[in-house]
Amino acid sequence: MAADPDVRGANIAVLDSGIGGTGVLAEIRERAPAVDLVYVADHGFGAYGERTLDEVRARTEFLARYLIDRGVRVVVIACNSASAAALHHLRERLPDTSFVGMEPALKPAAERTRTGVVAILATGATFQGELFKSLVDVHGEGLNVIEQACPGLAWAIETGGDTSSLLDRYLAPVIERGADVVVLGCTHYPLVRDDIERRLPAGTEIIDPAPAVARQALRVAEEAGIDLAGGGSTTYLTTGGDHDGRFPWETAAI
Ligand code: DGL
Repeated sequence: MAADPDVRGANIAVLDSGIGGTGVLAEIRERAPAVDLVYVADHGFGAYGERTLDEVRARTEFLARYLIDRGVRVVVIACNSASAAALHHLRERLPDTSFVGMEPALKPAAERTRTGVVAILATGATFQGELFKSLVDVHGEGLNVIEQACPGLAWAIETGGDTSSLLDRYLAPVIERGADVVVLGCTHYPLVRDDIERRLPAGTEIIDPAPAVARQALRVAEEAGIDLAGGGSTTYLTTGGDHDGRFPWETAAI
């Protein structure tokens, strides 16, 4: 039976279905070396991309409440799928907590493309949400936006499975249609960035929004009056299930 882990006074939590959000976590840590952080990998419930939006919304609210009960005041949803499913809902339901979410970086892609063809790689859940539709309405005008869902890829990355054939399959239409900017619209994909880059024509630009999300998280934390000068601890919580030994996980009974 897992104990209730101590989050060591962390006021900022970073949440994902697995290890994808550790990219955002690292960017936060680089900018705020002394802040106390808690990271939650929802291994027991992921992959979010294979769940319905309703399931992910309910689960994210449940995890947010767990963290808030332990003193967390800023929750960074370092997951495009969970942000698409739950961000508006969380802000409505839990108005005393600050939520920072993610969306595929279409705006910078629109600014940088020369061919007018940009590709977004993401889970199916991310494309289903209202968040993505409104993003295309606002920033997609005049662009040819390739919505490339990549079923199974995030969890293959998570579990050390075979990503090679999945990448070949999902990048073929991106190459064929001439995208010159590719957005990593799932926080797991930067973990195979080199493998993606190798498959794309030279000069294709890849956008990972993690640094921008980290900057936003710290802005929001400062606005919320959170002291960034803590003990510099990171608590890694997992809800169980398969995960490797990359991080010092503590299992939380959630
Ligand atoms: N890392 C998550 C994202 O950014 C998705 C992974 C999953 O399918 O659980 O969308």
